[in-house]
Amino acid sequence: MMKHLRSIDELGHDGLVRLLDLTHHMVEVNRRPVPKVPALRGRTVVSLFFEDSTRTRLSFETAAKRLSADTMTFSVSTSSVNKGESLRDTVETISDMGIDAFVVRHKSTGIPWQISEWTNASVVNAGDGWHQHPTQALVDCFTVREALGKERFDGLTLTIVGDIMHSRVARSNIAAFNMLGARVVLVAPPTLLPPDVSHWPVEVSYRLDDVLERTDILYMLRLQSERMSQGHVPNLREYAETYGLDSVRAAKLPPHAVLMHPGPMNRGVEIDGTIADDINRSVIQTQVEMGVAVRMAAMDLLARNLKERRAAAKNERGAWA
Ligand code: NCD
Repeated sequence: MMKHLRSIDELGHDGLVRLLDLTHHMVEVNRRPVPKVPALRGRTVVSLFFEDSTRTRLSFETAAKRLSADTMTFSVSTSSVNKGESLRDTVETISDMGIDAFVVRHKSTGIPWQISEWTNASVVNAGDGWHQHPTQALVDCFTVREALGKERFDGLTLTIVGDIMHSRVARSNIAAFNMLGARVVLVAPPTLLPPDVSHWPVEVSYRLDDVLERTDILYMLRLQSERMSQGHVPNLREYAETYGLDSVRAAKLPPHAVLMHPGPMNRGVEIDGTIADDINRSVIQTQVEMGVAVRMAAMDLLARNLKERRAAAKNERGAWA
């Protein structure tokens, strides 16, 4: 019984498939004239974002509202963190208000695990440092499932291009696509790859042009400069020429291949704007659309598990009575 959603490995293959199946139902809910179900009525979800975000935070909040939860948004810039309050005190204070789930984003690796030590609430990881971003990987798997009409990804090649080193999206996607049977190829300059990826279930290439013809899913990453300590690329124009996706490169992809990006995009750096908007290839907009349904599925599943756990605990007490 899953209490938290902090990484793809924690979710595991069966949890991943269960969530993707449940997402189908949420997509249907979202198409209704009133896209609302009572799954989380009476529950309170807090978004605790210590790092900038547009789509992830808003899609979690929309998802919680569509499940009828009460929502609270913690905004660091107006909180007592600015008066020196520690993360632990902040979490315990909010937790004491009787909340059911924290949705957490933080620039440091492992914070969602730490927070789950300090609260009884469920913790959902909305991105921790360079480490994990499980709901983004769920969004991406679901988008591919819909776009290519396949539930398993055996025989498919996912090529992830760019700033792998600083990317939690890449780490979560490698695990998730691997679980569903895909082959994963990483393409990046050596300076943007982690020092040792030999134990990762991936192939590595330094040349984008060499892998495009055998790519079914092309996943472009942003240069995450805010997570870099120094210049990892000589200059942006050179990076765009060597690793950016332009029309010449896009033409080398097989006709059925899809193009993805987690956003926010730096148009003209890792991806040409026209290619990103090409509806015959790009599923970038679908990724955003599916963001709400996936997060509804994730929170719904955690709430169901909570109910089962509470019921089990009651039975246990009964047995002793
Ligand atoms: C990503 C993130 O924050 O890790 N964005 C997102 O959640 N959609 C990727 C990025 O910042 O480049």
